Amino acid sequence: MICGRDKDSYLKSQNLKIFGEGKLNGLVEISGAKNSALVLLAASLLTNERIILENVPRLTDIEKMENILKNLGVNLLYKNNKLEIDSQNISIKELPYELVNGLRASFFCIGALLTKFGVAKVPMPGGCNIGSRPIDEHIKGLEALGAEINIEEGIVKAKIKKSINKLHGTHIKLKCPSVGATETLIMAASLAEGRTIIENAAREPEIQDLCQMLNKMGAKIYDFGKEKIIIDGVNKLFGCSHKVIPDRIEAGTFLIAAAATSSSITVSPVTPHHLEAVTDKLKESGSKITIKGNSITINGKDIKGVDIDTAPFPGFPTDLQAPFTALMTIANGKSKITETIFEDRMNHVHLLNKMGADIKLDKNVAYIKGVKSIKGMDLIGLDLRSSAALIIAGIIAKGNSRIYGLEHLDRGYENFESKLKILGVSINREFNKRTYVERGYGIKSESESLTKIKAA
Ligand code: UD1
Repeated sequence: MICGRDKDSYLKSQNLKIFGEGKLNGLVEISGAKNSALVLLAASLLTNERIILENVPRLTDIEKMENILKNLGVNLLYKNNKLEIDSQNISIKELPYELVNGLRASFFCIGALLTKFGVAKVPMPGGCNIGSRPIDEHIKGLEALGAEINIEEGIVKAKIKKSINKLHGTHIKLKCPSVGATETLIMAASLAEGRTIIENAAREPEIQDLCQMLNKMGAKIYDFGKEKIIIDGVNKLFGCSHKVIPDRIEAGTFLIAAAATSSSITVSPVTPHHLEAVTDKLKESGSKITIKGNSITINGKDIKGVDIDTAPFPGFPTDLQAPFTALMTIANGKSKITETIFEDRMNHVHLLNKMGADIKLDKNVAYIKGVKSIKGMDLIGLDLRSSAALIIAGIIAKGNSRIYGLEHLDRGYENFESKLKILGVSINREFNKRTYVERGYGIKSESESLTKIKAA
């Protein structure tokens, strides 16, 4: 079995070989949502009773979160995408740096640990190589709820103020609708004394999933999915069974891949309205979209250039900006892609240009002139979603590509290449003796570039 650091270097020595000019056809089964599963795992810390989570995707990010929980003393049993979580024997309220490093979502445990145990020590989170990823909104919100917080040598040390023995409900207005901060504060407020109101809360489906599970556990959370969430604190939370929602980002990635290759596929199960901003843009760019129950079928046609601006839900998701940019490289006409959420999420642009795309980047705005075709190349994905974009580009391209940096891809896409294979794409995972650093694919040294690459 491969695990820990060895697993990382093992993944770095792998690549996907893609035979270009591929087509997709058929049905693809969508996994449970990574970002939901991660926060639901954190929420399981709020009860001493057993939580059963179904539809948990097998991903390296989930494994990291499981290891963090195990280190706290949580018992976990995983079988066939079902996870049994037993948090009754938690003995430590501190997350070690070695486990947290590279998994931003691990920071979201702080709200649950603090409200349940009165104390939590969590290292500052790492983040995907997509911008500074501050945590000020988490901290300010927890302080408003009655926490005393000190940051010492990169460790966030939180405890409930001496004058009170529980966090207390309050009115919090977020400066921006941060997904992580909304989740941290909902968890913290669920066991606080009295009512908390979170204004300018994020409305992402993953937050709604968290609130659904917490309410099953006995929490009293109202109006989630709206800008103002109300939480009436309770004394105790209980065990429950919960099924993770389908991964809208994975589904969107497959739909975009189908549009980019003028293919017809069906993604299922999905919650179609979670993907409305994406299917609207795909329609605008020429694809036919048919929604039936919990499935979406796309018939890719000629691709027209369309503009997108990423935005918090229900807007176009930042996590699909890179894949959509890959689609626009071969559109008829021009398009303008504006990244508004993260300041440094355009890693894929210069790589797509190497493949023959015509993209001019001005800070966070990509001006794309569609080209007839792009060419296959050997490239390294530098973050999760830009890796997916490169794979889509490799499928579109003339000639073959090898995409490295699979440690990013495997964080967020369950069985990606197997699913593409089932859809008819010629794609194989190759196992190399030398890492891609040694092979010299544009990365100068491990310390310079690879250490910057962390998890979202
Ligand atoms: C989550 C998702 C990530 C997605 C992102 C936006 C998880 C594990 N990750 O990340 O896939 O791309 O939402 O949909 O769920 N900000 C602050 N202060 C804070 C927190 C955030 O200024 O305290 C800013 C960030 O810099 C960023 C924006 O808010 O510009 C959105 O970030 P946020 O929604 O918090 O993203 P994450 O929760 O980290």
